[in-house]
Amino acid sequence: MKFTVLAKNDLRGSLRSLYVLYVDLFTILKCSIFRSSLDLRTQIRWEFFHMYMKFMFIFKNFLVASNRIKVSQSINQDFKRKGFVLLGRASSDSSELSAHVESLFLSQSPEKYNVLPRKYDPVISNHVFKILTKFSHSIESIFQSHFQTYWISVYKTSPGESTGDSSFVWHQDADPRPLLKIFIYLNDLTKKNGAFRTFDRKFSRLLFNKGFISNSPEHRINSQKLITEDVAASSHWIEGSAGTVFIFDNNLIHKGTFPEEGYRTVISIEIYPSKNKLDSTNVANPLSMPVIDDFPLSPYINRYMPTEQAPH
Ligand SMILES: [Fe+2]
Repeated sequence: MKFTVLAKNDLRGSLRSLYVLYVDLFTILKCSIFRSSLDLRTQIRWEFFHMYMKFMFIFKNFLVASNRIKVSQSINQDFKRKGFVLLGRASSDSSELSAHVESLFLSQSPEKYNVLPRKYDPVISNHVFKILTKFSHSIESIFQSHFQTYWISVYKTSPGESTGDSSFVWHQDADPRPLLKIFIYLNDLTKKNGAFRTFDRKFSRLLFNKGFISNSPEHRINSQKLITEDVAASSHWIEGSAGTVFIFDNNLIHKGTFPEEGYRTVISIEIYPSKNKLDSTNVANPLSMPVIDDFPLSPYINRYMPTEQAPH
């Protein structure tokens, strides 16, 4: 009797281990093929959405010959190859934006991670809209369509230690492929004070093939062992002066870094394809409305888009 119970428990344990192995192998396969550990249904829905947006872009261009937008193939190819591109520097008046944001952080007691409260701020909103408009040609070249924003956050990091399963250790965001992120640096950033760090597409795939998974706290902690100092040396530090704007695929293996000294202030913008050109409401809303999710399950519904919810 005792033997039968033990045998049953062994069998149950073995089946559970086999199931865990199957789930992990499937996740690695998804990362290798789709570059994201996100569930396949959501990924396919987003892929079709992107195809539709690209089609609409070409169709609109075809109809309005006088207003034809020529996408830059070199930016598109560069992004496809690396998974990130430096868009350039925001105009010189971005120092006004930096000064304004720093003055708002003065009202908060400094933590290792501070986020600006979500409320309508015309200075931030106008500057971000101007910056996105300035780089719209490059962004449209990457998407091969117009684009829209989802949430936008402004945050400041100060010296501190990262916990084992946070976004300050190596990870991927497990987002749909057509969802990208833009960072606007509001102060000069180097390795010393918190520059962003990422592997390129080729190296990220290599790590996925070796079994890098970060979609659960346990996997994230375990996967750090794969990134030894030698491996980490192949990653890119995105250093840049205040006003630097860059776009990246958050499904690359990347991490935020806490400053050893000084601080880092950044505007982080989630962005994805759209049928229409960006309008200012779609910058004001994501800055002021609460962040509920990382991305919409249906890309056709953007909670930050409705004009009736525009702040006054
Ligand atoms: Fe991340």
